[in-house]
Amino acid sequence: MVRTCILAIFSLLVIGTNSQPGGGGMPGGGGMMYGKVNATVTISLPVSANYRRLVVSLKGVDEEHIYRVCNGKNKKTCGYWENIKNKKKVPSGVTTYNKNKKALIIKKMRLEDFGDYMTGNKKTKLFVMNQTW
Ligand SMILES: *[C@@H]1O[C@H](CO)[C@@H](O)[C@H](O)[C@H]1NC(C)=O
Repeated sequence: MVRTCILAIFSLLVIGTNSQPGGGGMPGGGGMMYGKVNATVTISLPVSANYRRLVVSLKGVDEEHIYRVCNGKNKKTCGYWENIKNKKKVPSGVTTYNKNKKALIIKKMRLEDFGDYMTGNKKTKLFVMNQTW
C-alpha cells in the first residue's frame, strides 16, 4: 500500500515536471517567455521558411498551426496561421517575421495565440505564456 502511494506520488512528480512550459532545458524542450493580451509580442526564432505553433483554441481544442513566411512567390498562402488539420486560416493577431530581429512579431496578441512556437522543422521551440499581471 505504502509502495503504491510512493509510486503514485513519484509518477505525479514526473508528469508535473514534464508538462512544465518550455521544459526548462530538458531534451526536446525550449525556452519560455511572457507576452500580454493586446500587446505586440516578439518571439525570437531562427530564420526559417515557415513556423509552427501548438495552441489551444477558445473551445479548448489542441491545434497545430503553420505560418509561411512571404517570399514573393507564395502570396496566397503566406503571412497567416493555418490550421494544419482543416487547412483553414486561423483568426489571430497579425503576424510577421522580422529577419533583422530574427523574430516572429505578433500584434494585438490574442488569448488563443499563446502556446508553443517553433521553427517549421520543430527543432527550436519557445513557449509563449500569458502574463496576466
Ligand atoms: C484587450 O482589448 C479589448 C478591446 O479593446 C478589451 O476589451 C480587453 O479588455 C483587452 N484585454 C486586456 C487583457 O487588456
